[in-house]
Amino acid sequence: MCTQILLFSVIMLVSSIPSSSFILNKRAFSSRKSVVTSSRGSASLAMYDKIFVAGAARGVGRIVVEKLSSQGKQVVAFVRRAEAKEELEQLPGVTVVVGNALEQKVVENAMDGCDCAITTLGTAPTDVVKHQVDYTGNINVLEAAGILGVTRVVLITSIGCGSSRDAISDEAYEMLKGALLAKEKAEKALVRYYTNAFWTVIRPAGLLTGPATGQAVLTENTKVCGAINRADVADLIVRAIDSKSTFQKVLSAVDPSASRFNFGMEEFQAVSL
Ligand SMILES: NC(=O)c1ccc[n+]([C@@H]2O[C@H](COP(=O)([O-])OP(=O)(O)OC[C@H]3O[C@@H](n4cnc5c(N)ncnc54)[C@H](OP(=O)(O)O)[C@@H]3O)[C@@H](O)[C@H]2O)c1
Repeated sequence: MCTQILLFSVIMLVSSIPSSSFILNKRAFSSRKSVVTSSRGSASLAMYDKIFVAGAARGVGRIVVEKLSSQGKQVVAFVRRAEAKEELEQLPGVTVVVGNALEQKVVENAMDGCDCAITTLGTAPTDVVKHQVDYTGNINVLEAAGILGVTRVVLITSIGCGSSRDAISDEAYEMLKGALLAKEKAEKALVRYYTNAFWTVIRPAGLLTGPATGQAVLTENTKVCGAINRADVADLIVRAIDSKSTFQKVLSAVDPSASRFNFGMEEFQAVSL
C-alpha cells in the first residue's frame, strides 16, 4: 500500500516535468489483476464541429488539438504563451488565441462561435500563484460556455477529486490537495449549474508521457487509480465529445494495461464510447 501511495504521488508530480526529462520508474510493481467489462448502448454521431480547447499549448490539451485537427474539425486553441501560437497555427483548421484563462472576458471572446468547450487547464510548475487556474481558469471556461450557449463541455480534473477521493491514499491526497480541491470546486459548479448542458467530467489517473497504448478506458467506477499516458487521455476526450454515453457523467480515465502502476483496479465496467 505504501508503495502505491508513493507511486501515485510520484506520477502526479513527475508528470508535470517535460516529457524529455521524465524517467520512468523501472522498478517492478506487483499489480492486482484487472478485469474490464464494457457497458452497452452508446450512441456516437459527429455532433460538434468547432471546438474550443483551453490548455492547448502542451500536454493533454495539445494532443487533443492535434487529433481534432487531423479529423478535420475546426479548433480554437487557447494558449497563454505566444511561443505556442506559431506551431499550433500550422495545423489545419486550428485558430490560436493567446490569452490568460484567469480573465473571463478574454476566454468568452475566444470561445464565441464554438459549439463545444474542453478545458485541460492546470497549474504549471512555474506558476507563482498555485492552483488558481484549476478553479478560476476552469470556471471562466464554464461560465463563458454558459453565457454563449455552448452546451457541450468537457472538464478535465483528476482522480482524487470528489467521489474519487478514496481512490488515492491520504498521503497522496495531502500532497495534491491544493489542486484537487480547486478542481473539485470547478466540478461541483459544472454539475450543479449546467443541468441542461451535455457536460462530462474526466478525471485522469497519474499522467505519463509516451505513445498511446490504445487500452485506456473511461469508467464510472470511483475506486480505480493508477497511470495513463497523456496520448490515451487525449484519445478518450476526443472520442467522448460525440459520445452520448458520456453526457452528464463524471468519469475516471485509467489504463489497465499500464499494469506496473495500477492499483485499485480489480473489476470495473468501462463506458462504451
Ligand atoms: N500530472 C498528473 O499526473 C495529472 C493527473 C491527473 C490530472 N491532471 C490534470 O490533467 C490536465 C492535463 O495535464 P497535462 O499535464 O497534460 O497538462 P499541463 O502540463 O498541466 O498543462 C496545463 C495547460 O494549462 C495552461 N494554463 C495554465 N494556466 C493558464 C492560464 N492562466 N491561461 C491560459 N492557459 C493556462 C498551461 O499553459 P502553459 O503551457 O503556458 O503553462 C498548459 O498548457 C491538467 O488539468 C492536470 O492538472 C494531471
